[in-house]
Amino acid sequence: MLKISKLATAVALVLAGTAALAGEVEVLHYWTSGGEAKSVAELKKIMQAKGHTWKDFAVAGGGGDNAATVLKSRVVSGNPPAAAQIKGPAIQEWASEGVLANLDATAKAEKWDSLLPEVVANVMKYKGNYVAAPVNVHRVNWMWANAAVLKKAGVTSTPKTWDEFFAAAEKVKKAGLIPVAHGGQNWQDFTTFESVVLGVGGAKFYSDALVKLDQKALTSPTMQKSLETFRKVKSYTDPASPGRDWNLATAMVIQEKAAFQFMGDWAKGEFTAAGKVPGKDYVCAPAPGTDKAYTFNIDSFAMFKLKDPGAQKAQADLAASIMGTEFQEVFNLNKGSIPVRLNMDMSKFDDCAKTSAKDFVSTAKTGGLVPSVAHGMAIAPAAEGAIKDAVSQFWNDDKITVAAGMANIAKAAATK
Ligand code: BGC
Repeated sequence: MLKISKLATAVALVLAGTAALAGEVEVLHYWTSGGEAKSVAELKKIMQAKGHTWKDFAVAGGGGDNAATVLKSRVVSGNPPAAAQIKGPAIQEWASEGVLANLDATAKAEKWDSLLPEVVANVMKYKGNYVAAPVNVHRVNWMWANAAVLKKAGVTSTPKTWDEFFAAAEKVKKAGLIPVAHGGQNWQDFTTFESVVLGVGGAKFYSDALVKLDQKALTSPTMQKSLETFRKVKSYTDPASPGRDWNLATAMVIQEKAAFQFMGDWAKGEFTAAGKVPGKDYVCAPAPGTDKAYTFNIDSFAMFKLKDPGAQKAQADLAASIMGTEFQEVFNLNKGSIPVRLNMDMSKFDDCAKTSAKDFVSTAKTGGLVPSVAHGMAIAPAAEGAIKDAVSQFWNDDKITVAAGMANIAKAAATK
């Protein structure tokens, strides 16, 4: 009798302990396309298996501009989510407001310092303390192509230079198909623009012009050539592209309506979700002229200060799960990216991911590894917004001359 009551007390204590340690985790993200939704569902599963309640806070809008606006209003009203998908210099901006939680206990227990490349760890830290957990590495300078469309148009090899690209685009046009699937939103315009700048000018020029925002580089003949090339790419898009979501542009390639798309490898998540196989149904190749370079985009979750102990525990478990091997593998298989955690087994990943992983390491050694501006990895949000607007204005209005476009971009780059 005594034994049974002791056991009952022990069970009650354990249950009470579990209940106190479980909590709700509200996660703000913008992963709403087919491939993205499958990816984030894996994180939800892992958290639920740990006994926590997942409160999904999805704000649609590729690139995350809408999510950033919603986040601001939630934090200002004193009601932040547990975690929000933010990255690059924006993490530092939020941390300097004093609203982010310190993740050092989790990071230390899980040995993040030895599991992350130093460049990545530095972005996740503010004044030496971890405030965000990294999810993946996306490569932005990709070109996607539908193999059947290329065949139909008589394009026999994947273009490696911009001249080869325009020759291929012309053939696709003659075959009555759309050469470039594009979604006309400013972050998508800039995704194409930064790949063109990288291809035309190389990694050093990209860095000078778009990361250091050096006025001389921004007004140079190389920038002029970049803008001319960029405008020519636009002439191969269809008239319905303004406002189109990026995943609908990817769908045009998947459905054999268009040949190419310039987009980061979250586009591969859409091909994967549609059951398409790289090397057979579609081709992944670096954008023309960019095979020795790599524009990186690292997704991460910043964690906000919370009061409730259950919610704090859920938040710490979320941070640990994000860096765990189980999540890093299954999430990135669906998302199109590669794990950010070092020394992961890549055997389940496809050739595009293997190329990305190899190039990430090799370009880091040669100086070809550069941060994506379009995806918030390189410059402060105010200057980023201003140059994105100037680039989109140029893209959308053929009456703006190359000289005027260049002057507008250089002026926008000086925004503080
Ligand atoms: C994010 C990706 C996301 C893409 C489209 C990028 O900025 O890093 O995770 O899939 O935008 O929304």
